[in-house]
Amino acid sequence: MIRINENYTKLKASYLFADIAKRVNAYTAANPDKPIIRLGIGDVTEPLPPVCIEALHKATDEMADRATFKGYGPEQGYAFLREAVAKNDYTDLGCAIEADEIFISDGSKCDCGNIQEIFSTDIKLAIPDPVYPVYVDTNVMAGRTGANVDGRYPGITYLESTPGNGYVPSIPSAATDLIYLCFPNNPTGAVATKEQLAAWVAYAKQNKAIILFDSAYESYIRDPEIPRSIYEIEGARDVAIEFRSFSKIAGFTGTRCAYTVVPKSLKAFDAAGKEHSVHALWNRRHTTKFNGVAYPIQKAAAAIYTAEGKAQTKALTDFYLGNAKLIREAITKLGLSCVGGDNAPYIWINTGTDSWTFFDKLLNEAQVVCTPGAGFGKCGEGHVRISAFNSRENVEKALARIAAALK
Ligand code: MLT
Repeated sequence: MIRINENYTKLKASYLFADIAKRVNAYTAANPDKPIIRLGIGDVTEPLPPVCIEALHKATDEMADRATFKGYGPEQGYAFLREAVAKNDYTDLGCAIEADEIFISDGSKCDCGNIQEIFSTDIKLAIPDPVYPVYVDTNVMAGRTGANVDGRYPGITYLESTPGNGYVPSIPSAATDLIYLCFPNNPTGAVATKEQLAAWVAYAKQNKAIILFDSAYESYIRDPEIPRSIYEIEGARDVAIEFRSFSKIAGFTGTRCAYTVVPKSLKAFDAAGKEHSVHALWNRRHTTKFNGVAYPIQKAAAAIYTAEGKAQTKALTDFYLGNAKLIREAITKLGLSCVGGDNAPYIWINTGTDSWTFFDKLLNEAQVVCTPGAGFGKCGEGHVRISAFNSRENVEKALARIAAALK
């Protein structure tokens, strides 16, 4: 008799953004005359930068010619992209990361979700709350957490982000083995200083632990004092894996391209205490289960590292940050406190009310979709997240509707 992985029964019935989509679809089906504005899931709306489109066309033409056609590429990504990433995102900033430590993939969601596979199922986890649900759910699926009790899993040490700590969690007193951090943070938009990250690196070293650093929103950092990469912190090469994505910097949410940095100096241990290379383990996993990102997509991604590409992606992220500023100002004017939006495309609003009720109010009375904070964890209750990813026209319209609904 075929049996299921019973860990799946410990999950919430559906994935947060699937849940929201269901409610929104039901609303639109019942109210076809009321167009909604989506400021919920962080999906971009602006077209790909012209350099990417040009590279895509050119690479597609190469695929039409026997002399330049490409079949399977290297699973880890083409050298032209790995080298461009290593140079522009790391060595130019003084971070010692080499091209063969970069693994190109089809998305940070997949990488953040898959990476836990290479670690033991009985390790101790530290995961922020609120948090991008993928980190928790993939560990539930793998059997590391135990059953959900009142919205929490006993196998997780929760790193609470609250108004009291400025939404930057403090380091736990207990030892943990695998630590998930995300800065600029999804969902709160909070950023971490060099000192705060240095303390996490020291904690990881002390506990022979590994930090999984999700840096998908680094291109929104404008404060020069805020680190863009965990590798700006001395010693991080020995304790951290970093995830980055082309989704939010260059509009690749539908195009799919990201990368994960696994330094060759990173070690993990077997039950007998013997050291193993995490880079070798991830390479083994990646080559077994993944066949590489399409050549034209990698060419499009590499185009963002040209001088023109850098200017175009800066203009794109500046545009969304302009939306974020408008959202922050409008929400503050309504008397609600909020954070984020200055170095991140998300604004985290302390509504002080049940977050799904607030979500329903905005949907029903303003036809605006936000993300209820409770969907990101217990500490998200009383909050909602508004995303800056939409056209200027829609953001302005949404803010006027929100103001009318909350009057
Ligand atoms: C979000 O809305 O949190 C993100 O868009 C989700 C993602 O990047 O997968």
